[in-house]
Amino acid sequence: MLVLGIETSCDETAAAIVRDGKEILSNVIYSQVKTHAAFGGVVPELASREHLLKIGPIVDQAFTDSGLDLDDMDGIAATSGPGLIGSLLVGLTYAKALAFSKQKPLAAVNHIEGHIYSVSFEHPEVEFPALALVVSGGHTNLFWVESESGDFRCLKYKLVGKTRDDAAGEAYDKVAKLLGLSYPGGPVIDHLAKTGNRDAISFSIPKISDRSLDFSFSGIKTAVLRLVKENEKFKEDPLRLDLVASFQEAVVNMLWSTTLKAIHLLRPRSIMLSGGVAANSRLREAFSGRTADASLKFYYPKPILTTDNAAMIAAAGTAKLMRGETAPIDVNADPNMRLAVSDKDFPDKRWKT
Ligand code: KG4
Ligand code: ZN
Repeated sequence: MLVLGIETSCDETAAAIVRDGKEILSNVIYSQVKTHAAFGGVVPELASREHLLKIGPIVDQAFTDSGLDLDDMDGIAATSGPGLIGSLLVGLTYAKALAFSKQKPLAAVNHIEGHIYSVSFEHPEVEFPALALVVSGGHTNLFWVESESGDFRCLKYKLVGKTRDDAAGEAYDKVAKLLGLSYPGGPVIDHLAKTGNRDAISFSIPKISDRSLDFSFSGIKTAVLRLVKENEKFKEDPLRLDLVASFQEAVVNMLWSTTLKAIHLLRPRSIMLSGGVAANSRLREAFSGRTADASLKFYYPKPILTTDNAAMIAAAGTAKLMRGETAPIDVNADPNMRLAVSDKDFPDKRWKT
């Protein structure tokens, strides 16, 4: 099954062709980072305008790179939410037009589900039930994932933890901004933190409640802000290096402590990490070591598949199309789309807090 994937939920215009949900034949990503860098964050109006300019050429490039064309496709998958409404509409409408013109089946894919499928290319062997931690600029979600087929073909999700305020990536971007670093903040802080001392400053991890699996990152961000206000030297090296290394360590520990709580409570067979922040070198290192200590399998995608891309959308879409879950041609984008099924599919109440 050949599927064209399209992703435009935020500030990447992306198209990819994937065979059988497994083999990436092309994966084209146009990042708008230059457009938004001056503003220190994504400007929705500018994002949708740029998607409009790029969507045609990017989809054409995906076909050229794969040596295939629209007639060869067995289906089209596009992100329909969550994300910026104006951005989502560009990719989804383009996909609908292609599907309608050639009478191809259409799949409307949840962006977060796409991030979970980004793991499936290199690790089809993931053992379920699993915990999936999706950490990006817009989301910090912990899902309990079960598989009816034993593999990625038929997954169901239960949201067991989420951020109560900022997403982890958002905290990186905000801290970078207040230190005068470039946007997006994640990769810059990741790089600078390598030469800082991560034990220099101890940020207290916010206590939510013993049984809650939620996250919170605004406290750490505010603590950084306070330090910088009190002492301008934190904006310069070497103090700045220690500050970003310690901030990063606090974020990693927050993510790990909640994941560990979920491991004890739910007993998964493996842990999956995905989303833009999953590219973080310290996060990967810490989770690799700590999951090994807990005798758990740990999986994450290579960097090109962690940030927003359309291959992951094509993979999630392929699973949907194979299950016959096609979207009607009048399907709409949903900026607040949730990824979860009804509680009756999860009679086990272990995670009720
Ligand atoms: O998944 P993604 O591309 O877009 C969303 O769906 O939000 O994630 C983007 C986020 C940004 O906040 C960016 O700063 C963060 O991922 N990020 C990183 C790293 N690379 C990207 N955060 C920490 N370390 C990195 N190496
Ligand atoms: Zn994303």
